[in-house]
Amino acid sequence: MRKRVRTAIFISGRGSNMQSLVAAAQTPDYPAEIVLVVSNNPQAGGLAFAQEHGIATASFDHKAYKSRAEFEAAIQAVLTAHNIELIALAGFMRLLTAEFVNAWSGRMINIHPALLPAYKGLHTHERALNDGAREHGCTVHFVVPAMDEGEIILQRAVPVLAGDTPETLAARVLVEEHIAYPEALAMVAASLV
Ligand code: GRF
Repeated sequence: MRKRVRTAIFISGRGSNMQSLVAAAQTPDYPAEIVLVVSNNPQAGGLAFAQEHGIATASFDHKAYKSRAEFEAAIQAVLTAHNIELIALAGFMRLLTAEFVNAWSGRMINIHPALLPAYKGLHTHERALNDGAREHGCTVHFVVPAMDEGEIILQRAVPVLAGDTPETLAARVLVEEHIAYPEALAMVAASLV
């Protein structure tokens, strides 16, 4: 088999997208290998899942660091120790500095719960509903210093239905996220090997 791209997933919470990437990476010939899960939140629910699946985890409580630069230096040291080649942000709720992002240019991707360039930032489902959007969805994109910018790798759309709440719409989008992210990670990893 070809060499697989050593990938770290960054999470802050439940980690359902991380779980979908871990599951996909267990299939034969998947071009990425998930070797590390990084969290800024030691309580992140996704950490237990990763540990149960034999994946190394590292938590960096951002509140314990004097600056973003020190926080990121600690993360980078662990990435280097694990020979990480590619980063997938999956619900990672800390902004990363331009220095860190630029160091990983073309090797860091993110999933956003909206059809970018629509609804950058937070509360995407509420905002789509308030606007009367007919269509919503998710985007996997390369990470650049400006938040939720960066080249789009792929998108999946869902209809907005009458009676939707932010929760029902989020759940419909999440189903697509769990399809889109493994597909996008495979595309990017295959282009790197
Ligand atoms: C997802 O909706 C993702 O698009 C967004 O944050 C959420 C993370 O959910 N960036 P999970 O932790 O992957 O379940």
